[in-house]
Amino acid sequence: MKLWYPYRQMKDLGQVPVMVAGKGTAMILEDGRRLTDGISSWWAVIHGYNHPDINNALIEQINSFSHVMLGGLSHPPALALADKLVEITPAGLNHVFYSDSGSVGVEVALKMALQYWKNTGHVGKHKIISLKNGYHGDTFKAMEVGDDSDFSNAFVDVLHRGYFLDTPAGGFDADAATIQQEASKLEDLLKIHAPEIACFILEPIVQCAGGFRIYSPLYLKAARALCDQYNILLVLDEVATGFGRTGKLFAADHAGITPDIMIIGKALTAGYMGHAATLATTRIFNGFLGDSYDKALMHGPTFMGNPLATTVALKSIEIIEKDHYLERIAAINAVIRNEFEKIESPAIADKRIVGAIGAIELKEDSMMAGFRDYAMANGAWLRPIGKVMYVMPAYIITDDELRKLIWIMRDWISHIYANG
Ligand SMILES: Cc1ncc(COP(=O)(O)O)c(C=O)c1O
Repeated sequence: MKLWYPYRQMKDLGQVPVMVAGKGTAMILEDGRRLTDGISSWWAVIHGYNHPDINNALIEQINSFSHVMLGGLSHPPALALADKLVEITPAGLNHVFYSDSGSVGVEVALKMALQYWKNTGHVGKHKIISLKNGYHGDTFKAMEVGDDSDFSNAFVDVLHRGYFLDTPAGGFDADAATIQQEASKLEDLLKIHAPEIACFILEPIVQCAGGFRIYSPLYLKAARALCDQYNILLVLDEVATGFGRTGKLFAADHAGITPDIMIIGKALTAGYMGHAATLATTRIFNGFLGDSYDKALMHGPTFMGNPLATTVALKSIEIIEKDHYLERIAAINAVIRNEFEKIESPAIADKRIVGAIGAIELKEDSMMAGFRDYAMANGAWLRPIGKVMYVMPAYIITDDELRKLIWIMRDWISHIYANG
């Protein structure tokens, strides 16, 4: 096998489906099969495949130029997108640094946080707090702050781990006492270790790759207040949650907070190509100003701010706004709630829903064996994470298409039950 696939033991790879065309939510395979994509290709393809307006915007840009370095040069889409991102992200995130993937966007965020303290004369703030079950990407620093051993087991000997707090308990609607209890874990840590901590990084509202664990906006509010109190930066990784996925344009909007640094990716470029942006407040940006390169952010991926990527992002945001996607996401949420309510089985450990995400956790990993093939045989592309099956569709999905995806999940679950 010449092509090395991700997250796979290549020894028993088996047959890999080959997609030859896409239209809306449909993935058309080489053998003619048509699958409805239930997970928007790793949560990126929010407008579905082959969107005519995005295609046309891209073609126009290609006919002008496809790439130019951002080192010492600029171009209209990169400038316009920076303006737009500052406008739509939480107030105060006034500066945009582009990169080429979510993982690299996280690296940039952590570099910003660590160097900010060095630049401003705070010595020894080298450690990072993150959450258990968090996932921030597969590059080294991103692995260090992530908590899924499947991704980082091979490297435990070389990772410099910081501190990990429990995923906040109580779900989206956690009561005040639970929030207080969870926040006190953060405060207890900060009381002792704040002088050596640079930042707290977390996926706001929902930890996606960690199994769609949802927590309360009140925890984010408490984290913001405690980070301010103890002079720690708050970094929100919105790579998965950004652009409407949790029901607000950004998950931070549920809490009405502004992080010091925020990362966006995935849906930023609607699945057309890899790109990310790390946004920072003026306080952070000013910390990098000085008379020499010593204080500058010495990072610059070749394709940062690529004209095609920034053109796609601008068009994508235009569509989100013009087509009232937040209303569409609320409708998707209603369908998921309605259908999930009807799914009951002793095989289910938990059902979790927020925005356009619906996840069902089964009791055992083994209960998921064969699910992907079953979904394909029924015309759907659904790829579980461990024992969690989920839908995270393109926002253009119709209610009927979405119901059918959920019924496939329901039928699989009842099949397990039928088989004891
Ligand atoms: C929250 C979060 N951060 C970062 C990443 C890494 O993004 P990428 O795969 O584009 O490097 C992911 C990818 O799943 C993610 O979910």
